[in-house]
Amino acid sequence: MESNERSKNVEACELVTGGGCGYVIFGASGDLTQRKLLPSVFSLYRSKRVGEEFFIIGFARSTMDDDAFRDRVKKSIRHADNSIPEDEITSFADKCFYVSGSYDLSDGYQRLKEKTKELATRFATSGNLVFHIATPPPLYAVIVAELGKNGLVKRHQNDHPFHRVIVEKPFGRDLESADRLNTDLLEHISDDQIYRIDHYLGKETVQNILMFRFANPIFEPAWNCAHIDHVQITVAESLGVEHRAGYFEPAGLLRDMFQNHMLQLAALVGMEPPVSFDSENVRDENVKFMKSIRPFDLKNLDAQLVRGQYGEGLIAENRIKGYREEEGVAPTSCTETYFAMKMFVDNWRWKGVPFYLRAGKRLEKKLTQIALVFKKAPHCMFSQANAPVAPAPNVLIFDIQPKQGLSLSCQAKVPGAKMCLTTMQMDFNYRDVFGSEMDEDYSTLILDCIRGDQTLFWRKDGVEASWRLLTPVLRDYDTCTATKKTTAPDTPEIYSAGGWGPAAGDHLLEKDGRQWIVA
Ligand code: BG6
Repeated sequence: MESNERSKNVEACELVTGGGCGYVIFGASGDLTQRKLLPSVFSLYRSKRVGEEFFIIGFARSTMDDDAFRDRVKKSIRHADNSIPEDEITSFADKCFYVSGSYDLSDGYQRLKEKTKELATRFATSGNLVFHIATPPPLYAVIVAELGKNGLVKRHQNDHPFHRVIVEKPFGRDLESADRLNTDLLEHISDDQIYRIDHYLGKETVQNILMFRFANPIFEPAWNCAHIDHVQITVAESLGVEHRAGYFEPAGLLRDMFQNHMLQLAALVGMEPPVSFDSENVRDENVKFMKSIRPFDLKNLDAQLVRGQYGEGLIAENRIKGYREEEGVAPTSCTETYFAMKMFVDNWRWKGVPFYLRAGKRLEKKLTQIALVFKKAPHCMFSQANAPVAPAPNVLIFDIQPKQGLSLSCQAKVPGAKMCLTTMQMDFNYRDVFGSEMDEDYSTLILDCIRGDQTLFWRKDGVEASWRLLTPVLRDYDTCTATKKTTAPDTPEIYSAGGWGPAAGDHLLEKDGRQWIVA
């Protein structure tokens, strides 16, 4: 398509905007607010997807006045992008306010209530409110209960004006605690007011999986067990636990990445076509997929699951300390920083097709990709070409990050007199086609909440299905006992930082005659 034709198409697309609204952040002095939430909301403001009828209130324990909070807001935006003109930052900061209070005492919420009323009139937001809970998880239920008791949210108040609540991950730490949290929240707000966030669903490249699958019908006939040999999902990070040991130590990577992001990526690749692109239909199919994942054989977990923990090593020529040497980590910690899983989906489409998933910290580089490896040609008529090797299979790769795009590998003849086949790539790169402007993950999701669209948020039954699958396994791992030096049978295998994880992670595929793809 010619680029001017493409830009006409893009111009014809509706610019999605939100109406008037007050946006309240709990945990306003925390890391997530500074690194992600404020720059994302600023990006909505700058691109006019939220208008002048908008204000922000930060709520946290620390004592601060509006001006001190505005200084933090400005710092966080400059830190995210230092090329932004100062007057734009200032006009945004002028819409930011602050209320301090204890999360479990009513007086702070009463002050918050007064402030929201005053600002609703000043900014003409019609009383619409989004509360974003970005605090440590034990406070989620406490905050919603206080919001309810103090009349800041009302059950079923989802329009004229709306009261909506964004809840960060982790949503519970097993099936029981997730159920309890759902019950606690539902006492004060209804499910259509709860936005269980998974920032992976805000990534353009992740949303594109559904567009690619269901707007390009040539792929659908091949998207099943008759043609696909296996699916691989890799989410690799070079970063370690950073300053988050307090959260990560009792959680581990299975909870941190699999219960949410990894299973969502698998569901987007594997779910059936929804009847329409609306929140209930999309989430119905998403949950159906989660429920179709075969439970793990608890007597034989090692055949399907691998745990690893990073030891010392080198990344980009820097010496990296091992996980057990990190600040806040027990020297005998049993927490996994790498996890690999082979799972099956028991339905007609995926019968017998393994899904291999792996995620890890302190791996060689940051890489999130999904690969669909197709079956090899059933009969090789070009035996003289690469004899005796059959041509490599077609592989379709969704590059989620840092490269953003997709590629399909095919076989082609090498020019010349000899009969010779080679693999070539058909590549689509977002940057080449659309430039480098990509939305922040959180911008899309916060705007969706303001617009009342839950499509990209977890529904209650989805959360339950994912915890139902993982809780029995976690129960087994939570009893793990490690010693400082030795690797007892139930401890994660130590891998060198800067590699691709423990040998057992590679073996998981090798024993099936397959290999991880790193494109
Ligand atoms: C978070 C996890 O949800 O996702 C982190 O808690 C992880 O441990 C992060 O580092 C990865 O997100 P992204 O967008 O950088 O791939």
